[in-house]
Order: sequence, then C-alpha cells, then structure tokens
Amino acid sequence: MLIKCCYTVLINKKFRRSEVVETQDLAFLQIANWELGIANCLKSPPKLDRIDNCSNNFLPQIDMSHRPGNIAPHGGQLVNRIATPEQRQVFLDKADSLPRVQLDDRTTSDLETIAIGALSPLTGFMEKSDYDSVVADMRLASGLPWSIPITLSVEESVAAPLKEGGWVRLDDRTGRFIGVLELTQKYSYDKTREAVNVYLTDDVKHPGVQVVFNQGTINLAGPVWLLQRDPHPQFSAYQIDPAESRNLFVQKNWKTIVGFQTRNPIHRAHEYIQKCAMETVDGLFLHPLVGATKDDDIPADVRMRCYEIMLEHYYPHDRVILAINPAAMRYAGPREAIFHAIVRKNYGCTHFIVGRDHAGVGDYYGTYDAQYIFDEFEPSELGIVPMMFEHAFYCTRTLQMATTKTSPSLPEERIHLSGTKVRQMLSQGEKPPQEFSRPEVAAELIRAMQERS
Ligand code: ADX
Repeated sequence: MLIKCCYTVLINKKFRRSEVVETQDLAFLQIANWELGIANCLKSPPKLDRIDNCSNNFLPQIDMSHRPGNIAPHGGQLVNRIATPEQRQVFLDKADSLPRVQLDDRTTSDLETIAIGALSPLTGFMEKSDYDSVVADMRLASGLPWSIPITLSVEESVAAPLKEGGWVRLDDRTGRFIGVLELTQKYSYDKTREAVNVYLTDDVKHPGVQVVFNQGTINLAGPVWLLQRDPHPQFSAYQIDPAESRNLFVQKNWKTIVGFQTRNPIHRAHEYIQKCAMETVDGLFLHPLVGATKDDDIPADVRMRCYEIMLEHYYPHDRVILAINPAAMRYAGPREAIFHAIVRKNYGCTHFIVGRDHAGVGDYYGTYDAQYIFDEFEPSELGIVPMMFEHAFYCTRTLQMATTKTSPSLPEERIHLSGTKVRQMLSQGEKPPQEFSRPEVAAELIRAMQERS
C-alpha cells in the first residue's frame, strides 16, 4: 500500500517535501523509483518526427541503469540526452539552417553533464519557474531539492532573433557543432539576486559571481540534445558516465559507495578523510572535477597524475574507482555542496564526503557552512548520505593525520593542510613537506610546475 502511494506521488511528479516525509522510509521510496523506471522503460523511445516538429514533449531516453542494486537517481530516472545516430543525422541535416549560440566552457560542461544524466532530472537549461524556485528556495518548481541554477545566458542581441518553439544550434568555444536546444523560453533575470542567494555575496571578486555578472542578461531555456558523446581529449580512460558507474558498482557488488569531489591535487587531509570513509563503505568513487576552474587552480592533467600516483602507491586497487567529473566549478560553497552530492547520487553513490569549506573560495563561507546546509533538507529527499569531516591536520604529537575529534593536540601541534597552501608553496618553488603531501605527489607537483615555468 505504501509502495503504491509513493509510486503515485512520483508518477504525478509532486515530489514535495511534505509528501516525501510522509513516506518516511527511503527504502520504500527507492522501490517506488525502480518501479517508475521500469514503467518508463516500457514507453517507446522518442520518434524522429516529433523531434522534427520541435515538440517539447518527447521523452529523454530511459535506460535500465537504476535497477535494484543501485540507489535511485535524483527525481527517479536517469536522463539520457545523447542523440541517437538517427537523431544526430536529423540535426546535422539542419545544422546550417539553424540559428547558432556559442557556449563557453562552463555551459559546454553543463550540456555534457545534462546529456549523460549527471544532472538528472534536468533535461535542459532551466525555465523561469525552475530558475526562480532554485534561486529562492533551493528547489525545482516540482519541489525536488536543487541548489544551483543551470542556465544558458546570452546577450539580448543574441536572444532577440531566436524564436520560442524553434531549435537553436549549440556550438562550443571553437565553433564546433555539439548540441541542440529546443528553445521553449527566453527570460530576463536579476543577476544581483542570483549572486546573493546562490553565492551569498555580490562581490565581483568571487569567481562564481564574476561569471554571473559577465554573462548575458537573457536566459535561453529548454531541453537539449548532445550531438554525440566524444571521448574526453585527455582522460578518456577515466570517462565513466553515470549509467556506467552504476553498472560498475553492481558488478563489483558495492552496496555503499562514497563519492569524493575535488578540484585540488590530493593531499594528506584528502587521503585521511577518504580512508576514514572507506572504513565504513564498500568502495570509494574518486571523482575529481575536470571542467573549468579558476585560473590559479592546479590544472586537471597534473591533478589526474597525482591521483594515479596515489592510487598506485597508497590505495587498495579493488576498493577505488577513479573517474572524471566533467562539470565546471562554481565555488558556491554550501549550495554547491548540495549540488555536488546530488550529482554523485546520479552517478550511483550512496554517500558523499563533505569536509571543511567544501567548494569554498577565499573567506566567503564559514568552515562548516557546507555541512550545516544539509540540515535544510530531509535526508530522504536528498537521498544521499553526507559524510561530514572536521578540518583534518597532521598531528605532531600523535604523528598521524587527525582532527580535534581524535587528537589531544594543542593548536601549535597541528599542521594544517589545504590546497591553497600547497599552491602557495609550489609557486615559490618549495616542495610540500610529507605532512602535507605524499612525497611522490610532491615530486610530481614540483615537476609539473618546473615544466610549465
Ligand atoms: S573542493 O572545492 O573540491 O571542495 P578540495 O579539492 O580541496 O576543494 O576539497 C575536496 C574535499 O575535501 C571537500 O569535501 C573538502 O571539504 C575536503 N577537504 C579539503 N581539505 C580538507 C581538510 N584539511 N580537512 C577536512 N576536509 C578537507
């Protein structure tokens, strides 16, 4: 009876807080989600004539990846917006006649992450109702938790000739045709409101706020299609999309998987909190972000080599999967922590690590704000368990990594580590000490810095 009730709620897409709370039991909710996925699998795939009409009704392709054995994706079904060969041909045939919009690196990443289902249940760039609701309340218009606006903003001159109801060709920064937007809406928005609500500041020195103030004033909204899934130019071996990671977890018989977001070279505090988490779950999904980051962050190729080195020397091979997250960094601190968790849920993770100042930059956020924000949601509506960690340091009294929860040390006995500190040392040609980074990683970082200078 309860299952049936959850199922109805999901079918109706009334995924509102009160109704979800009523269901109480996450397990039941997941069963309902699996049921919904199977029901959707019985629907026919989208037909080309409907694409031709540019109807907004055709469904995302559904796969079976959220079967029992995996946690349910956010909103119940894993989105797939990668064009089939037939759809691609239709798009290619029309390419020259379509109006074009050029994406920057961030919106290119957004297109890609939407297409592979990492942003499920989003199927495109947000319409006004979702945008307003996300900015104001951290929820989609349906009530489902969502903390970061996913928008395609263009200048008024670009938006003006585009017709709602038509197709727009999406090109990447180099002018390559990479996707299609079915334009359902154009709307203006308040940049200061977005900055203050999402980034908690309107200071243009904040890298995320800077993007908002530099982008266009009109949001183009609607479902998207990615023309094709190209192998990543640098990290194809680690390109594991949500449907694949979900399958891998089932193959490995991992029931509990902790996701780890990072944009910095791995240091010993990262290693410590990952390994603390690994003591209690079946596997670690090491998921560095390789989309756009701010200029002074360490480049993704260097970071990836550091992760490879760490896995080779310091981790049990059968307990870790290294995969790239193609998303761009927003530096939105607490709100981005929620977003990062939801994305990893879509990849099939059951748990997600949130340490000190997660996704923070400068001193815009309190050390643990990215943890407190999880209290604003019912655990069942997020559907992924945050694993919170205090600020970890090397303790010179006990000669090991620790936090104040496990170490009796005085403040002067703590060597605090951070990505920012590592970057500072490297820029001065100093090798981070081994309380900071494993020696093999420090050597790789020094080598990379020398190669680039
Ligand atoms: S982030 O922008 O991706 O959050 P980073 O790669 O430095 O930056 O952090 C990855 C994860 O490790 C985040 O959850 C962050 O909170 C956590 N973390 C980083 N340094 C520490 C530390 N010294 N102690 C505890 N957690 C940390």
